[in-house]
Amino acid sequence: MARRAGELQLSRYQNPGEIKEKAPKDFVTEVDLLCEELMVNAIMERYPDDAILSEERGGSVAESGRTWLLDPVDGTANYIKANPLFCACISVIEDGFVTHAAVVAPRLGGMYHARSGGGAYRESGGRETPLRVSDTTRLEYAIAGADLSLQGGKPQDPGVERVLFGAWQLRALGSAGIRGAWLAAGYLDVSVGTRNTVWDYAPTVLLVSEAGGRATDLSGEPWSLSSEGLIATNATLHSEVLETLHSA
Ligand code: IPD
Ligand code: CA
Ligand code: CA
Repeated sequence: MARRAGELQLSRYQNPGEIKEKAPKDFVTEVDLLCEELMVNAIMERYPDDAILSEERGGSVAESGRTWLLDPVDGTANYIKANPLFCACISVIEDGFVTHAAVVAPRLGGMYHARSGGGAYRESGGRETPLRVSDTTRLEYAIAGADLSLQGGKPQDPGVERVLFGAWQLRALGSAGIRGAWLAAGYLDVSVGTRNTVWDYAPTVLLVSEAGGRATDLSGEPWSLSSEGLIATNATLHSEVLETLHSA
């Protein structure tokens, strides 16, 4: 399903169709809606009893049984500009835990996927490679990923500011899904999310945990569907990041 959504995104690359600003600086294109339709139809056909929560159509998380979290195009602002950093994100939640996740970034190639207890992998060109987080040991040497709106001139949270300024370099990709996949792959050491939604966070939580990293809320508690933020690291850096986040 993620692969098919990725193919659709590629087929409409540089041609996103009608673009609407659904909220200030929050855009949706015709391709977002087409990818969502493709995913929702595929789930309803095969798993008609499952719940679906998807970015453009809404929905809810079921109290019991499976729920699918769909982000049909993650990185829409990039997609509109034909920037190649966009992807389709799918996660499955059961009893509050992320059990499956897939991120397909079709312009970059490859699919990142994970199953709870089954590891995290990148599938590319017919080959499947296990994902492993980085071995960076100090924040000072870390490459951090975060998307910030700097209209006020600074990150919104002084703790987040300390973490990002304490790292060596910053990457702002414009796609929470790719950020999580890249952390799982070891390209980033830390990922900070403060303004995302469950369909953005859930794939990172599973991919990173299955690749040997850690993903918690901002206070260090296990991430849950009601968490407001997400700190994901290569595990080694987790305590230093949390201490930095909360040091006055
Ligand atoms: C956005 C991207 C971006 C993040 C935004 C999200 P969307 O998702 O993940 O990285 O900074 O907060 O809304 O809207 O393109 O699916
Ligand atoms: Ca998103
Ligand atoms: Ca989206």
